[in-house]
Amino acid sequence: TFSAARTRDIVSAHLDLEGPLLPILHAVQEAFGFVPEAAVPVIAEELNLSRAEVHGVVTFYHDFHRAPQGRHVLKLCQAEACQSLGCRELTAQAERALGVGIGETSPDGRVTLEAIYCLGLCATGPAAMIDGRLVGRLTPAKIDGLCAEVDR
Ligand code: FES
Repeated sequence: TFSAARTRDIVSAHLDLEGPLLPILHAVQEAFGFVPEAAVPVIAEELNLSRAEVHGVVTFYHDFHRAPQGRHVLKLCQAEACQSLGCRELTAQAERALGVGIGETSPDGRVTLEAIYCLGLCATGPAAMIDGRLVGRLTPAKIDGLCAEVDR
C-alpha cells in the first residue's frame, strides 16, 4: 500500500542523480507495484516540480502503471509489422475472451491486458508477451491458449 514516507525515502535516495525523476518513478513502481496517484504530489514537492510535470512524465511513458496490475499480464503488440499480420483481430478476440479492454485490468485482478509497441519479434509476429514470456506467430488458437493460461 502507498506510503508517503516511503515515497520520500525513495526520492531522497535518488536526489544526487542528474535527472532523478525517471529513476524515482521506476523505484516507486517497484515499491508499490504501480505509481499511485498520491505519490505524484509527494515527488513533485520533493523535487520542486509542479504536479503537472510529474504527472506528464508518468502518463507519457508506457512503462509506468497507474493502477495495480493483474496477477497475469498479457501484452499484445500493436505496432506496424504485427498490425499487417492481423494483430487487431487477435486483440479483439483476446478482449472478448477475457472480458477486458486493452489497457484494463479485470475487476477480479486476474489479468491486465496491455498494448505494447514492438517486442522485436516482427519477423515472427503477431507477437505477444505473457508474464514476461515472449510468444510469436500468434493465431486464434494461440490466443485461446493464452487466455486459458490466465484463468489458472
Ligand atoms: Fe510487433 Fe515488432 S511490430 S514485434
